[in-house]
Amino acid sequence: MRIAIIGTGYVGLVSGACFSDFGHDVVCVDKDEAKIDALERGVMPIFEPGLGPLVARNVAAGRLAFTTDLPAGIRDAEAIFIAVGTPSRRGDGHADLSYVYGVANEIAAELKGPAVIVTKSTVPVGTGDEVERILREAAPGARAWVVSNPEFLREGAAIEDFKHPDRIVIGAEDEEAAEIMREVYRPLYLNKAPLLITTRRSAELIKYAANAFLATKITFINEIADLCEAVGAEVQDVARGIGLDGRIGAKFLHAGPGYGGSCFPKDTLALLKTAEDHHAPLRIVEAVVKVNDARKRAMGRKVIRALGAEPRGKIVALLGLAFKPNTDDMRDAPSLDIVQVLEDAGVSVRGYDPESMEQARPLMPNVELFANPYAAAQGADAVVLVTEWDALRALDLKRLAATMRQGVFVDLRNVYPPEDVEADGLAWHGIGRAPRKDG
Ligand SMILES: NC(=O)c1ccc[n+]([C@@H]2O[C@H](COP(=O)([O-])OP(=O)(O)OC[C@H]3O[C@@H](n4cnc5c(N)ncnc54)[C@H](O)[C@@H]3O)[C@@H](O)[C@H]2O)c1
Repeated sequence: MRIAIIGTGYVGLVSGACFSDFGHDVVCVDKDEAKIDALERGVMPIFEPGLGPLVARNVAAGRLAFTTDLPAGIRDAEAIFIAVGTPSRRGDGHADLSYVYGVANEIAAELKGPAVIVTKSTVPVGTGDEVERILREAAPGARAWVVSNPEFLREGAAIEDFKHPDRIVIGAEDEEAAEIMREVYRPLYLNKAPLLITTRRSAELIKYAANAFLATKITFINEIADLCEAVGAEVQDVARGIGLDGRIGAKFLHAGPGYGGSCFPKDTLALLKTAEDHHAPLRIVEAVVKVNDARKRAMGRKVIRALGAEPRGKIVALLGLAFKPNTDDMRDAPSLDIVQVLEDAGVSVRGYDPESMEQARPLMPNVELFANPYAAAQGADAVVLVTEWDALRALDLKRLAATMRQGVFVDLRNVYPPEDVEADGLAWHGIGRAPRKDG
């Protein structure tokens, strides 16, 4: 099949590379010339494990190409995916749909059909209806159908998720459109990935409901972690004890500094906006958003408390800046809030991340970035583990302790057993268990 993907970001590039790996002919379009130029030279614009070789293999096989020329990119395509960003609109939290509608207009101006136009971007309920209206108005004669196909991949595990999804959701109003989408996903379908075909509006809502539920699970265990600290329980044991219940499940029950990233923060806000617009309030999600916002800043205050009496003039090294491991994505990362709180208190902040430092630099201009965790920790008063990269899971704590000024170790991911941290000469502070009396 011939497939065009408009928007070559995390989702568009991974989708395009995977579709081409299934044997489809794929053109990825982006208006960012630097990005397309880099891709044509074999340079990946994002860090995503396995992506470089996957792209190279399919480009070499002649199945994957990149262009800034949308009309050429969509020519003869049977499926045209819209995978542009839908960030929060400034002011009200609604999803900013200007990129999606902009692309819909560009497609409409060129469309001959027959083709399905597929929104893979996360878009509020009813967006597909508007895309359809745009197409019908500008290209009344074209045989084209508008389909919703939300994407559930996780950054850091995107290729595996795309190739082995828990489910594929397709929202289609017409049988012809559903049939083309079955063809697109046939290689996965043969792998027995459940294909759920729904109405377009249901598909659009499934994506938001899924993200809001996951954000709720994270926020729930984070609040339980606070309660554990207050009552002398241990959140990891509590999480395991509830997660082993098959009705609950163990995933997304790791207490931490609050969710961030390119999806949960903006998608929960957009869902609330939809709920408000339709007079169907989602009070649980409202609470989740508030609790999570407060938590990120509370983590900064936790570090300040760990520093002791006067934070001004102290030095703190943050290890792991991206919102989660295996990505360089800094969007809404908790590290940003923690830096703000620390700097407001007069603390000098340093940072290290295996992959995201280039992205982090403009977002935290006063933070001094170091080439490795030990250099960042040298002479620091506290080290804070913010993101649990593999490379940060086996730090030589004795080496840290030997070069730090005040040996405070704040583990916001519960990676290190407190006893080990203390045995190596550092004072442990963490989440979800009461501070150690002798720590
Ligand atoms: N990142 C994720 O993990 C993830 C997961 C699931 C769903 N989503 C959703 O997928 C969508 C895309 O997210 P992303 O993280 O890939 O975004 P991104 O910001 O990484 O990429 C979007 C790309 O679209 C391009 N673009 C914008 N307007 C364009 C136009 N008119 N023509 C051509 N290209 C254009 C931009 O230049 C950019 O490269 C969003 O709706 C997001 O919510 C993201």
